[in-house]
Amino acid sequence: MNRFYVTTPIYYVNDVPHIGHAYTTVLADVLARLHRLFGIPTWFLTGTDEHGQKVQQAARAAGIEPREQADRTVVRFQELWRKLQITHDDFIRTTEARHVRAVRAVLQDLYDRGEIYQAEYDGWYDVSSETFVTERDLDLAEGEEPIGRPNIIRVRETNYFFRMSRYQEWLVEYIESHPDFIRPDFRRNETLGFLRTRPLGDLCISRPKNRLSWGIELPFDPAYVCYVWFDALLNYITAIGYPHDPATFAKWWPASLQLIGKDILTTHTVYWPTMLKALGLPLPRTVFAHGWWLMGNTKMSKSLGNVVNPMDMIERHGVDAFRYFLISEMVLGQDASFSEEAFERRYNSDLANDLGNLVSRLATMLSRYHHGRWPAPAGAPTDGPELVVWQAAQDAVAGMERALTTYELDRAVAGAITAIRAINRYLEQRAPWNLARHAHERERLHTTLYTAGECLRVAASLLHPVMPGRIAELRRAFGLSETPAPEELRQWGVLPVHAPVQLTGPLFPRIEDRGHAQASAGTGPSESARTAPAPAAQGGLVSIEEFSKIQLRTARVVAAEPVPGTNKLLKLEIDLGSERRTIVAGIAQHYQPADLIGRTIVVVANLAPANIRGVESRGMLLAASSGSSLRLLTVDGDLPPGSPIR
Ligand code: ME8
Ligand code: MG
Repeated sequence: MNRFYVTTPIYYVNDVPHIGHAYTTVLADVLARLHRLFGIPTWFLTGTDEHGQKVQQAARAAGIEPREQADRTVVRFQELWRKLQITHDDFIRTTEARHVRAVRAVLQDLYDRGEIYQAEYDGWYDVSSETFVTERDLDLAEGEEPIGRPNIIRVRETNYFFRMSRYQEWLVEYIESHPDFIRPDFRRNETLGFLRTRPLGDLCISRPKNRLSWGIELPFDPAYVCYVWFDALLNYITAIGYPHDPATFAKWWPASLQLIGKDILTTHTVYWPTMLKALGLPLPRTVFAHGWWLMGNTKMSKSLGNVVNPMDMIERHGVDAFRYFLISEMVLGQDASFSEEAFERRYNSDLANDLGNLVSRLATMLSRYHHGRWPAPAGAPTDGPELVVWQAAQDAVAGMERALTTYELDRAVAGAITAIRAINRYLEQRAPWNLARHAHERERLHTTLYTAGECLRVAASLLHPVMPGRIAELRRAFGLSETPAPEELRQWGVLPVHAPVQLTGPLFPRIEDRGHAQASAGTGPSESARTAPAPAAQGGLVSIEEFSKIQLRTARVVAAEPVPGTNKLLKLEIDLGSERRTIVAGIAQHYQPADLIGRTIVVVANLAPANIRGVESRGMLLAASSGSSLRLLTVDGDLPPGSPIR
């Protein structure tokens, strides 16, 4: 394998990301990092799907334009990917000019070559999924009406169709002769079953603008926009330069791995390959459909209120632990169930116990027996327990390398943890605490500590793609570069002899049993708060009593001017209903005084006064910031100044 091009689905911007989106993207990221770790040139694409009915509907519900809906939501994805340390090389938005231009070129090309034709459609249409459906799809007998199903409507309209039907036989043959194209196997059988038992129709790829206007206009008929899936699937090739930059395109296409959830199997294993065939392009080597994250045994859904918010998980447990959980807990291809208990179990056993304890144990022994520095070993392991434990680390390397083709990360990660357990056993066996008592065992003591360190270096480096933050920290403490180099994994003697080992604290502090009083997953925070109020100041939580000490109120800005001699501070006169006050706020680089006058803001009304640059400030305004931008908190609608916030 000389290069690796991996993609995720592009996510709809009708709603904010949840754990499912986080999973696919983390999975792609770990695989991308793993390929880089093994020295394979890698390109990793993700992005957002911004056209179509779902987005138009969400925009309408929010009372904004679809473009505004997309702009507001895309940043939520981008912010989450930043937090999750996702290392994508490109992020495509389907509203970008580069994509729109390429899609139009593709449509024109297919139209010119007769792959797209115009016809009258007279049949059923499912408004909720935005698809044309047959009587068979609806389980109707010929001529029967779909009674009591208001989302199924009769449609009679002229549209454009892609000649998908002509590729049915070819596709069956292709899938049969390319066992790696659809994985896992049971998904491959699902697609084959579907293709073998029913005739494949042509694909309607247009929507009349009077029904749906939010899409890419057809280049050959401005009364229509392109069907959102036809536009979206093309992102995988338009992002790497098709058709206008053939050199870049040739560098990465065909994709090595296209990751999807099982919900979008048909679009990716029937529509997509036939589209590529019509364009005369090779198919991706593998489309891999992973399973579903469930809450307990039920589907996550907004209406059930059981959707796991990845931002909360990161906040509470850290990025690395969350990534580790996602990758180790889901057997690739199967469904997995999310629960706070499963998270804690996995964290405490693998990270706090096996890995974390080994690291602190070794650091303690090094400081006791060798001034906190790596000792010099007798030599590379040739036999005995040293060879056994080094072999265990090398087995983990081989297992990780296998994952480059099987993608079974959960197994490969378990292999690294197995190696870590073997190192713990090795230390038990050599018992450095006994060796240290005898001067004549000095050499063996040094060899033991160094061997344990080397094996740990290898096993931990294998986990770097999964936990880039913590493992980089560990490597720094060991006197190594943050990112492991490809050749390091099989090499003996990389730890710098005599270099100090400096750990500042436990790598993975145990999550103590909290009795799940604060568990937000499953039950919801409100319920657990009602039954078992969390004690104050535990785990950074405040009680409702504590919170209620802080008086937040609305205030109207009456006057604003810069504080002389500063470039960051503004002095504001505010109306709190019952009184007027002066406050000083560090917002001069984000707001002009004139922009503020008349606005309703939110202030902490009972903050102790402070003298700031000679001005007495009585209160503090609230603002949110991200990177270099800052926005004031305001209220949604009109309320009199001084209204309490609770
Ligand atoms: O389908 N468990 O976008 P989408 C695991 N725009 N993965 C999940 C999940 C869950 N509970 N929920 C969602 C679309 N996913 C289209 C794709 S591609 C050309 C266009 C993940 O926002 C999983 O990867 O509905 C799934 O396929 C994807 O999110 C669907 O995201
Ligand atoms: Mg979906």
